[in-house]
Parts: sequence; C-alpha cells; structure tokens
Amino acid sequence: MGYQIILPSYIYGGVGCVEKVKEILDREGVKKSLVFTDKGIRQSGLLDLLLVQLDEVQVEYEIFDDLTAEPAYQDINELMEKVKCSSGDLIIAIGGGSVMDAAKLCCVLKDADYTVKDLLDDPSKARKQMKTVMIPTTCGTGSEATCNAIVAIPEEQSKKGIVSEAMIPDYVILDAQMIANLPKHIVASTGVDALAHAVECFTSKKATPFSDTYAMASAKLIFKNIREAYNHPDNMQAKSDMMLGAFYGGVAITGSGTTAVHALSYPLGGKYHIAHGVSNAILFAHVIEFNRDACEERLQLLCDAIAPELSGMSKYEKSQYVIDQIADIVKVTEIPADLKEFGVKREDLDFLVEAGSQQQRLLVNNRKNLNREDIRSIYEKVLK
Ligand SMILES: NC(=O)c1ccc[n+]([C@@H]2O[C@H](COP(=O)([O-])OP(=O)(O)OC[C@H]3O[C@@H](n4cnc5c(N)ncnc54)[C@H](O)[C@@H]3O)[C@@H](O)[C@H]2O)c1
Ligand SMILES: [Zn+2]
Repeated sequence: MGYQIILPSYIYGGVGCVEKVKEILDREGVKKSLVFTDKGIRQSGLLDLLLVQLDEVQVEYEIFDDLTAEPAYQDINELMEKVKCSSGDLIIAIGGGSVMDAAKLCCVLKDADYTVKDLLDDPSKARKQMKTVMIPTTCGTGSEATCNAIVAIPEEQSKKGIVSEAMIPDYVILDAQMIANLPKHIVASTGVDALAHAVECFTSKKATPFSDTYAMASAKLIFKNIREAYNHPDNMQAKSDMMLGAFYGGVAITGSGTTAVHALSYPLGGKYHIAHGVSNAILFAHVIEFNRDACEERLQLLCDAIAPELSGMSKYEKSQYVIDQIADIVKVTEIPADLKEFGVKREDLDFLVEAGSQQQRLLVNNRKNLNREDIRSIYEKVLK
C-alpha cells in the first residue's frame, strides 16, 4: 500500500524568528504581500511585529483584517470579493486557525474560476495560485502544517473540512512571542485541540510510521507543557514547546487523520458556535474511553512515552492513565466538562446524532465503528 506525508517547504522556529519573513520575501522576490489577520491580533499588537519587518525591507502590503472567527463558507465568499480587487505576490497569515484557514482558501481561490462552494463539493479542483506564509498565534490548530481548511455550513448547522494538497503552506514561522500573551482560555482550548490532534492521529485507522513520529512528539510536548503554559503564562519554554507540539500535531493530521472526537465536535461548532477547541475538549476523554478496547496497544505506547515511570502497570491501567490525564488537563485548564452552559439541551440529541453521524470523512478513521446508538451514548455523557 505505502504511505505518504506532505510538509511545508520551510519551517522556522524559535523566539523572535518572525524576522525570517525578510529572508522569505527576498527569496520569493516579493514586491507586495497580502496580509491576513483579525481584529483580535491587530489589537494585541502582534500584527505590528510583522509589519515592522515588512517596512524594514520596504515591501508593500495590504491588510485584510475583517475575518470572522470560525468562518462560514459565505464569509470566505465575502472575503474573496474584497481580495479579488487586490494584487500581490505572496499571502502572509498571522492569526489562529480561523485566519490561517481563510488565507489557505484564498491561496487557491484568488483569480480561480471555481468558488469555495465548488471546493466543498469537489476539493480536487483546487490549484495553488499564490504561495503562503503561516504565522500561528494560537497553540493551536496546527493549520500551519495541514492541507485542510474548515468552514461552517450554516444551512446544515455543521462544519466541514476542505482538504487539498494545493493548500499546504509554503512557509511556517513558529515564533512563541506570538503566544506570549495569548489569553489563558485560548491557551487552554487550542492546547487541548492540539492534544486531540496528536492522540486521535496516533489512534487513527490511518496512522502510519510517518504520522506516528509526529503524533508521538506532539503528545509528549503537550502532555508535559499544557498545564504549565496555562498556569504560568510567563514560562516561554513551555509556550515554545506548546507551539512546536501544535505544529507536530498538524503534521500528524496530514499523514493520518483525526477521528470521532473531531467528527462529533463539528455539529457543536456549527450549530451552537462552541469554540472548536472547547467542543473537542468536552468530548475528548469520553470518545477515547469509548475507543479504549480497540486502541489499548496505542494508548499503552502513549503512556510509556509520557510516564515511563509507570512501566510496571498493566495495559489496561496504562490506557486508563492516558484517559485520566486527558480528563485532568481539561479540568485543570478550566474548560467546561459538559454542554450545559452552551444552551445545548437533551431535546437536541436527535439533531446531534444525525449531524454527528454525517461526519463520515473523520468517522471512517476511528478504529471502532460508531453506530447511532454509540454516538447518542457519547453525546448523552456530556449533556448533564
Ligand atoms: N486547518 C486545520 O487543519 C484546522 C485544524 C483544527 C482547527 N481548525 C479550525 O481553526 C479554527 C479555530 O482556530 P483557533 O482555535 O486557533 O482560534 P481562532 O483563530 O478562531 O481565534 C480565536 C480568537 O482568539 C484571538 N486570538 C488569536 N491569537 C491571539 C493572540 N495571540 N492574542 C490575543 N488574541 C488572539 C482571535 O482574535 C480570535 O478572536 C476553527 O474554525 C477550526 O475549525 C483548522
Ligand atoms: Zn482540531
């Protein structure tokens, strides 16, 4: 059968490495860049860290900061209407997954004869029109490493991923300065999202030796650092490790694929607008618990890597340890444990079961098949 992985071409890491953007602009002969960001990034002063570099090398830029968090495909259409009138040689995205996904879509939509709706129906139409630089500011979706862009589909009250190799970023800048002052609740939600990428990809049916290497590296970094990054925001070593862990998680996605946590999370984002990382966090331990018998070996390997001192425990105990760690991280980072406070009610169960079971792109990666009753029982656990 064989297997493959696809990686961005140039990846820079280390505090302060945003200055590498100057090398990139020079290498690509850029005269003008299109900069994608959002109002939150602008207000936090992070955009200035980039603009100062562009000014130094006198590269022109045009800023698109009207991007909505967790965009719907209609928002991407509106954005493309604005971008259509502009020209540039390179796209630079500075922001979280929402900004990066929008920029990745723009890199295949700009001047193309297909729309984002066409790509939802047939992602193989996508062709790269412009190169991209990704500067993540959360820790995180791993979007800087993936071929995926996720959009909400309001009429279906759900979200969907568009996956195309054409969207693989060309350059990635992992500068932990970008998350130095990230609000704690976003460290929590995006950090748990990254951990879900690692654990789901490692336990996915699609796991390969390539994806395992990155998923394992990601899991080790995040299990070790997420509590510290949350509790002690000034610990830049923990923040740098979180940023790396999130990136490795994204690479793992391109080689493997997420599973039922992400699948069942999409309707929660699509209908109730629960932040992506939060909806994953609420479901995470319950789904891994459901999968445990099919994934015991894999969970044991994770336990051996994150807690080698527990080598004497049984396979079952080790798998339980990993599940307990996940639940503990969600608790320590003060993410709600259930859907109560998001206005989701037991009457919504039928909708959730229907919408969750539609997410076949990811459900097929789950080592254990989930029928509607299984899906219902998982949602019931988080609907107190
Ligand atoms: N493409 C992929 O592979 C992939 C993977 C997972 C998730 N996603 C998608 O990514 C989106 C979520 O992205 P996200 O969780 O990174 O959050 P986000 O991009 O939606 O940002 C959330 C909020 O945080 C603010 N913010 C971001 N960085 C900040 C900083 N450093 N300081 C202050 N405020 C900051 C933003 O302004 C925004 O208001 C969802 O749409 C999800 O579906 C994509
Ligand atoms: Zn995710």
